[in-house]
Amino acid sequence: MSSSQNIYLEKTPNQPKHIGIIMDGNGRWAKLRGKRRIFGHEAGVLKARELVETAVRIELEALTLYAFSSENWSRPKKEISGLMSLFEKTIEKYTSLLIDNNVRFKTAGDPSMLPKILKRKLEQMESITSENTGLKLTLAIAYGGQQDIINGIKCLIDDHENQVIDINTMTVESFEEYLSFKDLPKLDLIIRTSGETRLSNFMLWQSAYSEIHFTETLWPNFEEQEFLEILQSYSQSERRFGNIDEDIELKEA
Ligand code: IPE
Ligand code: IPE
Ligand code: MG
Repeated sequence: MSSSQNIYLEKTPNQPKHIGIIMDGNGRWAKLRGKRRIFGHEAGVLKARELVETAVRIELEALTLYAFSSENWSRPKKEISGLMSLFEKTIEKYTSLLIDNNVRFKTAGDPSMLPKILKRKLEQMESITSENTGLKLTLAIAYGGQQDIINGIKCLIDDHENQVIDINTMTVESFEEYLSFKDLPKLDLIIRTSGETRLSNFMLWQSAYSEIHFTETLWPNFEEQEFLEILQSYSQSERRFGNIDEDIELKEA
């Protein structure tokens, strides 16, 4: 048993405001059990549900879950259609859970290639939960960080041409208004499961100063305890944002 068992079952000081999770490793988890990949995705959904409940309990402000990347469209048709119908079932199954927990649900990504029914269900879930004031849950679905930036630039050029804004006065903050996640707190922490040490096109702009935690754990095996330990380690990290530690300045004076 870990020494930090049950350290952190409610909100603590220095807790991140916004966490993004790259939920990776479902396919390998299923393969280890001699099962089809979709079995791993189903187990992954249950894990995501658990994590949302933990996030609500610790009063996290924002949680973004990476469910399907722009590049995942290149997977075999069978896996894509399995995932799409799983997303659809999941939305249906968990709508009341989100309402009961005061969760505000949104999506990020390009919905144009999503099946119509799924698109409609996602929109319904956004609208039903839009007045909720608790956890801000975002599902990154058919999402790519590069595509989001390009989309933002296109909108920006439109606004410039229509004289809504002047590109020459653009700042980091004003550009963010053209990107997904604009109404969320800064992305403090990214967690990626499954041992891969890359971002795979996840929140490229927003991750500029995020802490990044990589774990070998496959997503369906990711337990609340490990999540809480990662939060504890985050609370001890020193985030300098390009500045220096004040103690160093004093010692050198
Ligand atoms: C992550 O698990 C879920 C999606 C990308 C949809 P994977 O399906 O990538 O699982 P692995 O990485 O092959 O084990
Ligand atoms: C990233 O996982 C996307 C999601 C978890 C939704 P991938 O499995 O698609 O990433 P790569 O291909 O290993 O980089
Ligand atoms: Mg993967």
